[in-house]
Amino acid sequence: MEEAVVAKKRMLSGIQPSGDLHLGNYLGAIKNWGARSDTYECFYFMADLHTITVRQTPADLRRRTLEQLAQYIACGLDPEKNTLFVQSHVHQHAELGWVLNCYTMFGELSRMTQFKDKSAKHQENINGGLFTYPALMAADILLYQPDLVPVGHDQKQHCELTRDVAQRFNGIYGDVFKVPEPFIPETGARVMSLNAPETKMSKSIPEGCVFLMERPEDIQRKFKRAITDSDTENCVRFDPENKPGVANLMSIYAAVTGKSFAEIEAEFAGQGYGKFKPVVGDAVIETLRPIREESQRLLKDKAYLESVYRAGAEKASYVAEKTLRKVYKKVGFLAR
Ligand code: TRP
Repeated sequence: MEEAVVAKKRMLSGIQPSGDLHLGNYLGAIKNWGARSDTYECFYFMADLHTITVRQTPADLRRRTLEQLAQYIACGLDPEKNTLFVQSHVHQHAELGWVLNCYTMFGELSRMTQFKDKSAKHQENINGGLFTYPALMAADILLYQPDLVPVGHDQKQHCELTRDVAQRFNGIYGDVFKVPEPFIPETGARVMSLNAPETKMSKSIPEGCVFLMERPEDIQRKFKRAITDSDTENCVRFDPENKPGVANLMSIYAAVTGKSFAEIEAEFAGQGYGKFKPVVGDAVIETLRPIREESQRLLKDKAYLESVYRAGAEKASYVAEKTLRKVYKKVGFLAR
């Protein structure tokens, strides 16, 4: 029997290889990416162009970019079903980025909270790229005409700007870009720092951050030292307002075991945080173990990883070029 060919919806996302991937990246994003490839045509990339808005050590950037690819695959992204590529390998990103710079307003870019945060943090290097970062991100997205862009809360503002720029461009030149929907997954979307539960887990606070490639004993040490709360209740109860540290540990435990908060509360009834924390640590260790081992195995096979990113760039470039050509024509560039 013939199957009807229905065009799959398209999805795209990227992560900067500016730091090693961590539990927040995994639970908040990558873990859910793999499952989508049956319903969506998926593009995932290492956003290396974006990383140089902050000074990088070249050898580290190269290493992390390749590691990130290995980790994407180890996390369940099948390169046969997903297009995995390195942003700088697809030259259309930089090209459309330039064009969109000219359709993004100074005022809009000035309002971006990520720009304000990063320029406060890197006062010695507030460069033009840091300022126009969102225009490049808009290019990343709009090149592929995706239906959906899964991102974390912190990227919502950039996605909204992308929509505004797309609408502005379409308003002048007709329907060139699909206006994409940001998609912020509900579960596990926000993993907080283990030792500062009011801030997002990030590499900038390494003691509160669990990296995918970290040794089990280091992971366990971080969980044992995780901040719970200052109250004297010593009871595992989901109360994000008053017990953010415990709520964060419960969310992590729920995400890696599939248990509900009620089940977790029952499991640890009458037991204190001292019992709870190492159990969460162990569950995380067992979740990450196969990912770490598979990443290490893949990193020994450089030829395979190369074949994946080359094929990915070729596929991505094919799609991206169609959009770029249309844009060049619309704005009035002479055809080659
Ligand atoms: N700015 C994103 C971040 O820091 C990374 C990124 C770059 C991205 N381009 C993108 C995410 C396009 C989604 C789509 O997390």
